[in-house]
Amino acid sequence: MNYTLITGATGYLGKAFAMECLRRGENLYLTGRSADKLANLSHALRQLRPEAEIRTFPCDLADENSRAALYGDAGDLHFSRLINVAGADIQKAFALYDEAKLTFQLRANLEGAISMCLFCINRRADSLKIINISSICGAYVMPYFAVYSAAKGALTSFSLAIAEEYRKTGVIVTAVLPGAIHTRPDVEEYIKTQGVWGKIAAKTPEYVATKALRAADEGKKLYVPGVANKLVYHASKFVPRAVKTKLIAKKWRATQKDAF
Ligand SMILES: NC(=O)c1ccc[n+]([C@@H]2O[C@H](COP(=O)([O-])OP(=O)(O)OC[C@H]3O[C@@H](n4cnc5c(N)ncnc54)[C@H](OP(=O)(O)O)[C@@H]3O)[C@@H](O)[C@H]2O)c1
Repeated sequence: MNYTLITGATGYLGKAFAMECLRRGENLYLTGRSADKLANLSHALRQLRPEAEIRTFPCDLADENSRAALYGDAGDLHFSRLINVAGADIQKAFALYDEAKLTFQLRANLEGAISMCLFCINRRADSLKIINISSICGAYVMPYFAVYSAAKGALTSFSLAIAEEYRKTGVIVTAVLPGAIHTRPDVEEYIKTQGVWGKIAAKTPEYVATKALRAADEGKKLYVPGVANKLVYHASKFVPRAVKTKLIAKKWRATQKDAF
């Protein structure tokens, strides 16, 4: 019996992936930090498919001991899919960080995801599809969102690198770079401030999950959900970096988000 491991399953996007994988008939191994949230999620999913094989294990991806406990629990299983969704989009000037916040954000967004890749590759079924949820933010130099965009940029780079290393071995790696997704209330507030652009570009978690799974099925190495986001992603390559960086700094200077 093979499993689909989803990190950040208790969040908005993670839940959408769990529902879609359940609809596909996959066996689920779900993780997030909160045991209560995982129990509620598992209960809700079982209502939809009572015969589903669903396992959960709470894990703080920023803590290697917590990851080791998960690897102990899942050590006898085989994985045909890994979806690294967990992430912390803390957004503020670098001067406002302290050591604890810095290591938490980097470990949750990058180290935890990479560690999960290693674990699932070593415990893979005949084939393994990995989806790493990065962000379109990782494609840019982003003042006032520097740690998040650097971590997501590194996750994209890592995904593309191992996609090549494991080519023709049955391991497919897809980096997904979403723009804004209709999720937490603070993200919804941000989308509203974007006016018409927000309406056009922001996608639902269900849209991102379905399209990302299809991109993985097609063996894509990098996928940007939504036509508008794709256009910006490609067109912005023609704008000089210094210009983009100044525009982004101006846009983000006043924004602060620290919900974790
Ligand atoms: N929302 C957007 O507009 C947007 C855009 C681009 C990319 N993304 C990326 O999409 C992913 C999901 O976003 P979302 O909007 O669904 O976020 P969310 O609802 O805030 O969910 C975040 C998830 O990550 C988990 N998590 C956070 N820190 C963790 C840690 N240290 N260890 C284990 N799990 C941890 C949370 O688990 P608990 O609930 O158990 O704490 C939760 O399940 C993130 O990687 C984010 O960067 C989001």
